[in-house]
Amino acid sequence: MTVKQVKVAYPLVLINYKTYLESLGNRGLLLAKTVERISKEYGVCMVVAPQFVDIPRIASEVSIPVFSQHLDPEPAGSHTGHISPESIKEAGACGTLLNHSERRLRADIIEDSIKRSRELGLLTCVCANTSLIGKALSILNPDMVAIEPPELIGSGISVSKAKPEVIRSSVEMIKSVSSTTHVLCGAGITDGMDVLRAIELGSEGVLVASGVVKAKDPEKILKDFAIALNQ
Ligand code: G3P
Repeated sequence: MTVKQVKVAYPLVLINYKTYLESLGNRGLLLAKTVERISKEYGVCMVVAPQFVDIPRIASEVSIPVFSQHLDPEPAGSHTGHISPESIKEAGACGTLLNHSERRLRADIIEDSIKRSRELGLLTCVCANTSLIGKALSILNPDMVAIEPPELIGSGISVSKAKPEVIRSSVEMIKSVSSTTHVLCGAGITDGMDVLRAIELGSEGVLVASGVVKAKDPEKILKDFAIALNQ
C-alpha cells in the first residue's frame, strides 16, 4: 500500500489503543480522525497505535503517524504467528512500541527489534518501567524511550503528579547515555495539566491510553493536551 508521508515531531502525544473495545475497528478509525483534526488544528504531533489488524485502514484514511503496539524481529520466512517488521511497514505504520509493560521482551529481542525496525526506517519507542531500565535500554539508541511506572497504568493518577522525580531522573539518565533518544512518559495521564507537568519535567511527549480511549469526550481531552503542548 502507499504510505503517506507523515512526520513525527516533538513534543508529541502517542495514543496507545491497546485492546480496548472503544478503539477497535470503526471506533478506532473515528478516534484517529478526531486525533488528526485536533493535531492539525493545534499544530501538535499526535500519533496513534491501533491493533495490528486496524493499521492498514487507519494509515490509509488518516494523515497522522501510525505505530504498531509491538513487532517481532524474526527475518521474513518460516516464522508462523509472528508480526514481522515488514508487515508493519507494508500496513502503513511508521513506527512501533516495544517492550510495553503489558508486552515485555527480553533485552536481546529488544535489541534485534530495534535493529530490524531501523533497517526498514521504522521508528522505535521502547517502554521502560523504571529510570534505570530506561537508561539501560537507551544504550540501544532507540528513537524514544517511554517511562511508565506500571502501578500507575490505567489508574487515572498521572506519573507527572505522583512520580515527578521519575520523569526528571529518567530524562537525565537516558540523555546521558543517548542524547538523540527522545524521552516520553506515560501512565495515568488524563488532562492537560498532566501533560504540561510532564513537559516541564523534561519529557518530550506523553504515552497515553485510557485517558483518551475511555474518555466520555476524547475530543475535549485531546484539545486539552494540545493546548498544554502549545504553552
Ligand atoms: O501505553 C500507555 C499506557 O500504558 C498508559 O496507560 O491507561 O494509564 O494511559 P494509561
